[in-house]
This record gives sequence, structure tokens and C-alpha cells, in this order.
Amino acid sequence: MATKSPRFNVFGKQRCLPRKSPLSHTGPTTSNGIRLFGFHCHLGSTISNTQVITECVKKLIKLFDNKRFHHLRLLNIGGGLNIDYKRFSKRTKNNNEEDIIIPTIEDYIQSIKEPLQSLPYTIELIVEPGRSLIANSCILVTRVLGQKRTGSIRQLVVDASMTECIRPALYQAYHHIDTINSFSTDERIPFDVVGPVCESGDFLGKQRCLPNTLKRGDFVAIFDIGAYCSSMSSNYNMRPRPAEYTLDEHEQIKVLRKRETNQDLLRTFYVE
Ligand SMILES: Cc1ncc(COP(=O)(O)O)c(C=O)c1O
Repeated sequence: MATKSPRFNVFGKQRCLPRKSPLSHTGPTTSNGIRLFGFHCHLGSTISNTQVITECVKKLIKLFDNKRFHHLRLLNIGGGLNIDYKRFSKRTKNNNEEDIIIPTIEDYIQSIKEPLQSLPYTIELIVEPGRSLIANSCILVTRVLGQKRTGSIRQLVVDASMTECIRPALYQAYHHIDTINSFSTDERIPFDVVGPVCESGDFLGKQRCLPNTLKRGDFVAIFDIGAYCSSMSSNYNMRPRPAEYTLDEHEQIKVLRKRETNQDLLRTFYVE
């Protein structure tokens, strides 16, 4: 990672670093004003095999051996770990869906510990585990608006949509869907779970086995929406964003974010 200014770099302002930060021990500035602080790599997203992280860290650590880089004290190994979006549903082998092993944070630490220990000095380490930190911490609760049939396909229309969870519509991401009363013994049949936004791509899940008795007013939950859902939400079709709640350590429900109102939606418009 290089920066043109020693005071402002992509990790923030250098003067914000603690006085004893390893970054205060940096090397010379090159003739064109670039100062090297460390290395940053990014293998990608949803990594399930931590071996690739180990291999990558080994390669990066080798760079520190180079005389030119002896002064460097920072390593950012990027992201990001996978989560098991399909842990509640059966994988079908004919869909090329193998069981995946999801690394825990402990696995992650183990995978980088050994190569890092080979360095003879301490460095500042930055990790970017991404969605694995929060994705499975949230559900989106939505109300059933009704059932309808399009040709042979049965659709369950709910009041959540691509405006709250765009991942399925945008890149066919999978989110588990179940009723709030998942112990219901009613017969389950496959539904496409769709939103009320008038877009053919407005779906939350396809061919999901849900009780055939679901009716207007029942609740359904979309799982694992803690990452890339609220942050990618929109007001498309003038839809106010829903409220967000959290459970505190005493299991008390607290409002994290208020439901948007029509007033909120009009706030930025000039209305005479
Ligand atoms: C810079 C950076 N760090 C970390 C991640 C990992 O995030 P996630 O695992 O949530 O996709 C990403 C995603 O591509 C990224 O671009």
C-alpha cells in the first residue's frame, strides 16, 4: 500500500494513529513522494477454505524478508469468510452443492498464526472478515399478503421486497425463508416468495417449501440479512425503510432504527 502523502493514507490520517503505532516506524519517502507503510492483499469474499489464506499470508510474510521492505510494520490480509446461508435447508448434490465447511473466527486465527509467528518483530495486522461477523445475526420479518398462481408456479406475496433485501434479485443470492411458526405440521409446497414491488425480478426466494396454509397476515422470516441488506436497501417505489430492532443482553427489544415515514421520504424534495 502506498500513499502520496505521509499524513493521509487509505487507512485514514496518519496522525490519528497511536503514538506507539508500528506505523510511526516507517521508511523513507521515494523521490515522487510515495511512502510505503505495508502490504494489503484481498483474496476475495466468502472464503471457506482457510488454507488459501495461510498460503497467501506465507507469501506476504516472505516479502518482509526483502531488504527494501525491512522497515515495514503493517500487513492487511483483507477478507472475507463465508457463512452457511443454506444451513437450514437440504443441499441437493445434483445442483453441485457440496456440504461446505464454514471457518470459525478461531479457524481463521489459527490459519494466520503460524506464518505470522515467523516474523522476528511485531507488526500491525488488519483483517477484514466481512459478512462473517454479522450476516447471520439478523432476520427480516415480513407479512404475507396472499398467495397467487402464475402458470404452474405458486407465489407467496409478502410485504418485504427487493427494497429491503435486494441480494436475491441482484445476483440470485440465497437466503433461507421459513414461517415464524416453523413447527407447523401443515403440508409444505414449493412457492416463489415475491415482493409487492411491480418488477418481475422482485423475489426473495424461489421454490421454497412453505406451509400451503400460509395466508394474509401470517409472518415469514428471511434469514441471514445482517450483511448487505439494510446497507443496500432503497426507497424505490417510495417505500419507507422498515424499523430495525435489536435484542440487548437482557433479551429486551430495543429500536435500532426507526421506521421511515412518508415525511422522511419527502424531506429532500422542494415542496412549495
Ligand atoms: C476490501 C474488502 N474487504 C473485505 C471484503 C469481504 O467482505 P465479504 O466477505 O462480506 O464479502 C470485501 C468484499 O469483497 C472487500 O472488498
